[in-house]
Amino acid sequence: MTYAPPRAAVLAGIGSWLPPDVLTNAQLEAELDTSDEWIRTRTGIASRHRVMPGTSTSELAVEAGRRALKSSQSDAVDAVVLATSTPDELCPATAPDVASRLGLGQVAAFDVSAVCAGFVYGLGTAAGLIAAGIAERVLLIGAEAFTSLVDPGDRTTAAIFGDGAGAVVLRAGDVDEPGAIRSLVLGSDGRGNHLLHVPAGGARQREQTETASRFLQLQGREIFRHAVRHMGASCREATARAGWELSDVDRLVAHQANARITKSLGDALGVPPGKRASNIERVGNTAAASVPVLLDEDNSSGALTEGQRVLITAFGGGLAWGAATLVWPVLHSVA
Ligand code: COA
Repeated sequence: MTYAPPRAAVLAGIGSWLPPDVLTNAQLEAELDTSDEWIRTRTGIASRHRVMPGTSTSELAVEAGRRALKSSQSDAVDAVVLATSTPDELCPATAPDVASRLGLGQVAAFDVSAVCAGFVYGLGTAAGLIAAGIAERVLLIGAEAFTSLVDPGDRTTAAIFGDGAGAVVLRAGDVDEPGAIRSLVLGSDGRGNHLLHVPAGGARQREQTETASRFLQLQGREIFRHAVRHMGASCREATARAGWELSDVDRLVAHQANARITKSLGDALGVPPGKRASNIERVGNTAAASVPVLLDEDNSSGALTEGQRVLITAFGGGLAWGAATLVWPVLHSVA
């Protein structure tokens, strides 16, 4: 699926929030049959943030959303799109509650579920609402309390995933403006559904026949292979649709799943290490929050600057993936 906008969605604000509690590799080492050395060398992760009991996805989403609205210097939005695979409840969506708590009134609000590709799918959804004239301004949030799906006794998933939220405000504008989504591609392959899933709790398997079935089950090696392949192909397609060469890309902002995935992807695309954004060492994999948190951190630190050509990509369960391009605009950072 590709995106060729009659009127474009333009980035107008950005913000993020990570819960204060940090889980280090040393703590995991004390609790599980793992080591700091294994986790660092196989994933690039040293620590991750996590929610404490009583905090859920909506709290993270509200904090990030508030910062993005402040950054955009306006609270006026017509829709809230929340990309998450860890909604507060199985039903209803979490977005209406988030919109209310942000004081946004009776705006359209719904969730988008595409696991780690959620933010890119959300970008496509928000851009579609704007292109169709349904909305002038959209608050798009990627938020996850992903550790709520992780079996604390599973050394692989416990080492990888973290919690957090990132958000952007998108407004209607022109495709040639800085900040405009210039191209966007999305894809999926449901044949890989079983490679990353939570078997119980949905309509298919309502009862938890065993405790493990309510936790995330991951075939990491298979996911790794698909991630590099599909992010690579979607990056090539998105840059071509933007009229760019891969050598034009100033910043590759890839979903943070594993430092080795980002390296393989960057190497395959010929994007040098200095142009690859990364925060996985401190943040781990925060699923739908991963890309917007990274964008916000890079914007605050000055790693992302006005006029840079930015290539965004993500991949995750579903399987689902996507990529988008934009020229980075001036955005105010909000602490
Ligand atoms: N500490 C120590 N050993 C671990 C470990 C840990 N935290 N996690 C796994 N291992 C072990 C495995 O049990 C296995 O042992 P065995 O050979 O005795 O069976 C060995 O390490 C190799 O496991 P494998 O899964 O092949 O390792 P890997 O190098 O592929 O790394 C992932 C595992 C999960 C880190 C990696 O595959 C990955 O990052 N995958 C994609 C991430 C992902 O799925 N993200 C979500 C969607 S984007």
